[in-house]
Amino acid sequence: GTAAKIAELARRREVARQGARSAVEKQHAKGKLTARERIDAFLDPGSFVEVDEFARHGAGAYGDDTREAYGDGVVTGYGLVDGRPVCVYAQDFTVFGGSVGERVGQKIVKVMQRAIEVGCPIVGLNDSGGARIQEGVASLAAYGEIGYHIALASGVVPQISLILGPCAGGAVYGPAATDVVVMVENTSHQFVTGPDVVRAVTGEDVTFEELGGPAANAEAGNVHYVATDEQDALDWVQSLLSYLPSNNLDEPPDFGAADLEISADDLALNEVVPDEPNRLYDMRRVVRHVVDDGEFLELQAAFAPNLLVGLARIEGRTVGVVANQPLHLSGALDIDASEKGARFIQFCDAFNIPILTLVDVPGYFPGLAQERGGIIRRGVKLSFAYATATVPMVTVIVRKAYGGGYASMGCKHYRVDANLAWPTAEIAVMGGEAAVSVLFRRQLQEAAATGDVESLHAALVAAYREQRCTPYEAAERGYVDAVIAPSETRTEVAKALRMLRTKRQASPARKHTNFPL
Ligand code: COA
Repeated sequence: GTAAKIAELARRREVARQGARSAVEKQHAKGKLTARERIDAFLDPGSFVEVDEFARHGAGAYGDDTREAYGDGVVTGYGLVDGRPVCVYAQDFTVFGGSVGERVGQKIVKVMQRAIEVGCPIVGLNDSGGARIQEGVASLAAYGEIGYHIALASGVVPQISLILGPCAGGAVYGPAATDVVVMVENTSHQFVTGPDVVRAVTGEDVTFEELGGPAANAEAGNVHYVATDEQDALDWVQSLLSYLPSNNLDEPPDFGAADLEISADDLALNEVVPDEPNRLYDMRRVVRHVVDDGEFLELQAAFAPNLLVGLARIEGRTVGVVANQPLHLSGALDIDASEKGARFIQFCDAFNIPILTLVDVPGYFPGLAQERGGIIRRGVKLSFAYATATVPMVTVIVRKAYGGGYASMGCKHYRVDANLAWPTAEIAVMGGEAAVSVLFRRQLQEAAATGDVESLHAALVAAYREQRCTPYEAAERGYVDAVIAPSETRTEVAKALRMLRTKRQASPARKHTNFPL
């Protein structure tokens, strides 16, 4: 009868949700949560709706029909984070090591399609032994389908990947194509080929950790945040989502207006830049003074630390911050910084997030390694990203803006909307020392032969700096819209962003740019 059938449903649900006890214990012993525990910890309580709970791999033909666990190697569905919908999938390491076969692939693709249709973020919790060996090419097809849908969803809905265990071989390319990747200390690793293969092919003797641990991946720029444990990873992603719109047609959440009176905190900005031109200071201090509550969700902190990128709010609305960091390489741009900045600008542009750029850049970092590494074709990405972004953009020149650095860091000419400069700004082709040695080479040689070269040199540098290394030449030409006191930065940026809220900018019809990848 009906009662028996309902009881049978309950029994099946129980079986599906339980998991094999020994495998769950093994997972816990490694310091990892199970797929369901992770989803429960991530979503608003009681909001999870599971999809395909009773799916089975049906791989009996591959020789193992005794282990057709319900759900197969992934738990999928949707739920709420802070009341906003998200689609999730969590690979279940307790079922064939979370390996990906045909059914797992189908389940993941099904929730991805749902996310694309309704316009909500996709959060993938990865913990997997890779392609399911028993299922052969069907597993490879599953990866292909997932990869295709990641590309389809790119720029439509935010895609976030957490690496919570192993992730190797072709499996790494799914997360790598998503917007943000998070790893966890001690329990996660990521590489294309493992230590044994590396040893056999190149003779290099490397540990798991050196090759694919979170620190190695963070320094390579593969990962946006390294969490101390799984809870930290899940909390961080919740916080990240609070800055993002649900999709490309939506606006980021609005947390209400701030006060536009100049405060004591604003006045403190007048003291941040040191008097001596080569003294260091932490650009994060400037960022924290300008954004709401000093909160800055930095991304990729361990990669290209000479350029800061991250999310913050001004007047309760999300902004993407791009800023030179004088503490590293004096804030000079290099290949990694260019690529980091460019990808972040594209991310912000895709998701209607205005961009605030803070400039203190002595130029491009020189050297053989950079030139051989392809800085010409790779460094161009940064200015190209600014040129093609259509979200509101505000740039503040804090100190140096020299040469190619001026051009690449959100200048007027690449159609940044509001360009502001502090009185400490030095906007010129190059710094005083370098300029004088080119412009006055002959005079300095003559002086070296006859008289006091040092005082001549010092006088020339001082004259050049006073005349050229200021914001006023640029202001005369309208290349900066206003010169402002540092203490006015927060309020002026807020006013500019208010003004720009309804910005519309059309681009010529084309399939897409040929972005210099
Ligand atoms: N296909 C099918 N089953 C897999 C699998 C895969 N790719 N990866 C792991 N499993 C299974 C294991 O056979 C094991 O099954 P069991 O519980 O019945 O013994 C279970 O998942 C757990 O794996 P185990 O090796 O015990 O876990 P671990 O934490 O010690 O090691 C890995 C994890 C990922 C390092 C290890 O499982 C591994 O090297 N897997 C193969 C990776 C691979 O080469 N994938 C191929 C395609 S990229």
